[in-house]
Amino acid sequence: MAKLWGGRYAVKTSAVFERYSNSLASDTRLTPYDLKACTAHVQMLSEVGVINEEDARKLLHTLNEMSVQVENDELTPSGNHEDVHSWVEAELASRVGPIASSIRIGRSRNDLVVTDFRLWMKDELLYQQEAVKRFQQILLTLAERNLEVVMPGYTHLQRAQPVSLAHHLLAYFWMLERDRQRLIQCYRTTDVCPLGAGALAGSTWPIRPERTAELLGFASAFENSLDVVSDRDFAVEFLAAAALCMVHCSRLAEEIILWSTTEFGFMRLSDAWSTGSSLMPQKKNPDPAELVRGRTGSVIGHLMALLTVIKGLPLAYNRDLQDDKPTVFAAADTLGSSLEVLAGAMESAQFQNEKMAAAASDPGLLATDLADLLVRSGVPFAESHELVGRHCEGDTDERVKPLLEQLTTASAVEGRTHRGAAGFKAVAAQLDRARNTLLV
Ligand code: ARG
Repeated sequence: MAKLWGGRYAVKTSAVFERYSNSLASDTRLTPYDLKACTAHVQMLSEVGVINEEDARKLLHTLNEMSVQVENDELTPSGNHEDVHSWVEAELASRVGPIASSIRIGRSRNDLVVTDFRLWMKDELLYQQEAVKRFQQILLTLAERNLEVVMPGYTHLQRAQPVSLAHHLLAYFWMLERDRQRLIQCYRTTDVCPLGAGALAGSTWPIRPERTAELLGFASAFENSLDVVSDRDFAVEFLAAAALCMVHCSRLAEEIILWSTTEFGFMRLSDAWSTGSSLMPQKKNPDPAELVRGRTGSVIGHLMALLTVIKGLPLAYNRDLQDDKPTVFAAADTLGSSLEVLAGAMESAQFQNEKMAAAASDPGLLATDLADLLVRSGVPFAESHELVGRHCEGDTDERVKPLLEQLTTASAVEGRTHRGAAGFKAVAAQLDRARNTLLV
């Protein structure tokens, strides 16, 4: 297949190397964005008089025709082309002839590829923000329903103090809120147009990068051509946000797995979201949660992979950067599907309120409150701590005995009323704030 270069090359590229370097398969998802970028570039070139009106009309008409066909799944890159940019030009040339190559004037694949990538990323970020938000909405609904359900809160996976189930669920809501904010911030980083930076130094043609940026809906054009052709900060930021969001999902997945055990028995996954064993008929396994927990590893890996690709690169573009896209695409696919799966599993799960209440009625969970009561009755905190510790071992001091009736699990939860605490009233206020957060 004809290449976009080759004038000085005496022999053909090795077939082995050609296979090794080909990026068409992964670039394919950039096709609509490449067509958009080409369209904006041609439009700008015609506005500044680099391409004559007639050629521009022909090119724009045909690029639009191709875009519509791509959108309708009637056209998709195929054949032995080095990358999506080569395919677009070849396809264009098959329709309009040699003027197709004028799309290459005043730009290079180095600025084009990262323009395509940023355009794709912007759409993807909006999709991922919505996916996170949908999950937050589900957690909010579950929290609303379970405000007055009491369960043990844990530290070191040992029962610690009683909390409202809603409080536990909202903890994940806030983790996801921070994830959503990171994705929103990443959109800002991504919203810069590289087109016109050329291979590295810009162009001697009278191009107007601000105009191309405007036509493509970017917030601004690049500041420095050397920087922008090799800058992948937006991709790293996305991978970091995705990795952290997956880590949060994985923590929740771990709790789903624990809570679904006979030992805990706090939760039952719906049949629609669990799997049986081919051998053991009694089994109902929390596979969706396990897969999310497992796949978190690959997203963390993608972040490390891209950071490592970039760390030794001199300015400006280097071919190493081609491998930015598979990492980001894979991480985005994993994040999007994991959010959907975990949200679906949670939404349809049943909480076993009695089991939670029974576990929360463990008198040990009231130990802190008992010590606090002793302090209120005038015993210094260290001594109170000591006395309650001994009480837990069966040695109850006379000063402790009269206080025992004053304490219940309900009073321990209800007593925690300040902002952000685990008590019912405080959690109700927290729920209001969570609801408002999603409105903006
Ligand atoms: N496939 C390449 C990439 O994704 C496109 C840019 C190629 N540029 C070059 N100078 N070989 O990075």
